[in-house]
Amino acid sequence: MSTEDTVMLSDDGFSCMSKRHSVSINPDPSLMEDIGAASFTVAEAIVELVANSMDAQVEGTDIEVDIYIDSSEIRVVDNAKGMNGDVLAQAVRLGVKMDKIGKVSASRKGMFGLGMKTACASLGRRWSVTTRPVGEGTEYFVEFNLEEWTDRAGDSDFKWEIEIEEREPDEDGVLGVREHGTAIVVQELRDYNPLAGPVLDKLGRAYKGHIEDGDVIKVNGNRARPPEYDFIEGSKQEFNIPCGDDEEHRIYGWVALDKQTHNDDIFGLNLYRENQLVEPWNKDFFKAHLMTSRIIGEVHLDFVPPNFYKRGFERQSDEWKEARETMEEFLEPVVKASREASRGKDPKKFRKAARGLQKALGGGSEVADPDGGEEGEDEDTSGGGTGDDDGDSTHDEDELVQVDASTLSIDGKRIRLSYEMAGIPDERLPWDYIYDEATGELQAILNTNSRLLDKSEDHEIVGTLALADCIASFLTDEIGYESSDARRYRNMWLYQRLGE
Ligand SMILES: Nc1ncnc2c1ncn2[C@@H]1O[C@H](COP(=O)(O)OP(=O)(O)OP(=O)(O)O)[C@@H](O)[C@H]1O
Ligand SMILES: [Mg+2]
Repeated sequence: MSTEDTVMLSDDGFSCMSKRHSVSINPDPSLMEDIGAASFTVAEAIVELVANSMDAQVEGTDIEVDIYIDSSEIRVVDNAKGMNGDVLAQAVRLGVKMDKIGKVSASRKGMFGLGMKTACASLGRRWSVTTRPVGEGTEYFVEFNLEEWTDRAGDSDFKWEIEIEEREPDEDGVLGVREHGTAIVVQELRDYNPLAGPVLDKLGRAYKGHIEDGDVIKVNGNRARPPEYDFIEGSKQEFNIPCGDDEEHRIYGWVALDKQTHNDDIFGLNLYRENQLVEPWNKDFFKAHLMTSRIIGEVHLDFVPPNFYKRGFERQSDEWKEARETMEEFLEPVVKASREASRGKDPKKFRKAARGLQKALGGGSEVADPDGGEEGEDEDTSGGGTGDDDGDSTHDEDELVQVDASTLSIDGKRIRLSYEMAGIPDERLPWDYIYDEATGELQAILNTNSRLLDKSEDHEIVGTLALADCIASFLTDEIGYESSDARRYRNMWLYQRLGE
């Protein structure tokens, strides 16, 4: 600590003395290990390391990243441009923004100067970088033993220094005969049994665009493949739309309608930034329910800042708000088309939905007509939406919702129906419902505190009517039906139930 005495004059002219102390604010050595507590999965950490390989691509060559995973070691080896001694020295520091200190290509996945260090520390306690920079014929090596750093916790004399070794390229080493590239090797793994499968899967999703453009990522010799989508023929629409007050940003990608509706979470939009998946299956731009669960797509939001660990976008940023506004408006016809396609199992519905979508989004390609249907039968699609016409879906087999006296079946999923009496504090509430997704049970609760039960003799009829009302509310609130459809299903059910 250094101290400096200063004599100062206060406002009223009296002299007073203040002291300034300069203190070291070097981080505690344990930080180097603690940054790994970012709760990355093994797959997420490897995705971060591969992001760096992609950022360092040598122009004109495809990236090849070879990843090896076993219980003792994880290695990520690339053929990118490598790092010279100066770059490596900056690269291992925490929080250095590389774009601020050197010539770095403008569009990069890297932003915070933390990814490599956090990813490595989350994977294991010992990690190293071996790197051969393009055109140098030399190799640099640096190693971190995090146990040693953490052992020095509390030591204020600790110097944040590390040795970089410069050496002849070793063909038997981890970089083999590559002329340039970088190898990250992590040992003393935190996960005793890291699995290659989920990593392969995650990489295929995360870097879909790169892989489609020719870059190769392998895990234990197996190539990562992008996932395939199974959408309704003709429903895929590409788009590239301006965004922002001065239209200074662009959002691009595609949307389509999945062949199936989803009870699971696997629908919505995969959101990318700089060709890296930041949010899978996002549902922020439309109201998510069964009727919209066919919406799938890939959307590139290169201008929106990601959050710290790139596992989502910064929701508070103006850019996100702009993107959200633009996408909500853009998706309106897609939401309508998803509803249209979900109204029945008749394949013609799909064509109608796809055509409506094409018209609304201005797509050009023709929609295939598998059974040679005639143009005339689709005349009501010009608005691109559902309207309220139920004219062609009166056959029960066509309905997405099937009913019998004690069950609803929505697109194949059975929901058991029942009612029960219980006290709900608000006496003005005659009934309410509980839906348990796990057990597939919809239960109307008749409020024993309500006047309705006092005044009625036949509780069975009241229970049945309550359940009918709850079915209609459930179909609109939870499944996303328009109220006219929900009422129609309610009536169908009541008719069945009373016929028992
Ligand atoms: N495989 C690699 N090839 C070449 N350079 C690399 C490689 N990995 C890391 N670097 C260099 O190290 C720097 C630091 O990487 P790190 O992942 O820690 O931060 P970043 O990528 O700049 O930002 P972010 O925290 O957003 O990932 C990179 O900016 C890059 O210059
Ligand atoms: Mg990075």
